Amino acid sequence: MNENLTTYYHARAKEYDRVYQIPEEQQDLADATALFQALFSGKNILEIACGTGYWTDQISKTAASILATDINESVLEIARERIQAPNVVFQAADMFSLQLDGRFDGLFGGFIWSHVLLQDLDGLLQKTFHFLQPGSVVAFIDSKPVTGGSHDQRSITQTDEFGNTFQTRTLADGTQHLVLKNFPTEAFLRQKLLSFLTDLEYIELEHYWIVSGRLKA
Ligand SMILES: C[S@@+](CC[C@H](N)C(=O)[O-])C[C@H]1O[C@@H](n2cnc3c(N)ncnc32)[C@H](O)[C@@H]1O
Repeated sequence: MNENLTTYYHARAKEYDRVYQIPEEQQDLADATALFQALFSGKNILEIACGTGYWTDQISKTAASILATDINESVLEIARERIQAPNVVFQAADMFSLQLDGRFDGLFGGFIWSHVLLQDLDGLLQKTFHFLQPGSVVAFIDSKPVTGGSHDQRSITQTDEFGNTFQTRTLADGTQHLVLKNFPTEAFLRQKLLSFLTDLEYIELEHYWIVSGRLKA
């Protein structure tokens, strides 16, 4: 899975930011930005799978610091050009095998939950939460399947024996990629996070879901 997803996002790096120009999603982006800027204000954040740094940029306006990590150098290059803030450091890292110095009091993952195999989620959460202090603020955002939207339910072309769903996506150069894209329900998110987090909140925007909470002691 990792290899495919990594190759796909490497190939997509230069066209990735188009997802942030979709007119119908601008209100959700503004609402999510306001929420994350409040939630992470003054915190030292670990960001996994930061991509080209859209959320890093938004969150860095209020956070004390962000260590923004991604497996792909090609997206980090774009992120480094976008953001030259003194409170942001980018680092190439596989979120499944993070080795980091220091502990954080915030964790953010944007549009990465959907790309984690269902059977890998528990391990990933355990691994990343290990770098957080008790009481840390945690938030994930990802896509809802919206009819007629950029993630229409009908875009799913395959489902595997675990229930993971896949889309066949075409890049600007015409290449086709089978990409893991899961659409968790609120109940599923709560069930996965309940043993780790308190103050769990699920927020449903028009095109995205957001889940947040605080790491238990
Ligand atoms: C959908 S993009 C999200 C980027 C960014 N968080 C955003 O919301 O715009 C998924 C990102 O996950 C990264 N990625 C994929 N597998 C990864 C892994 N094992 N460790 C870290 N990053 C990974 C890809 O390189 C890509 O940048």
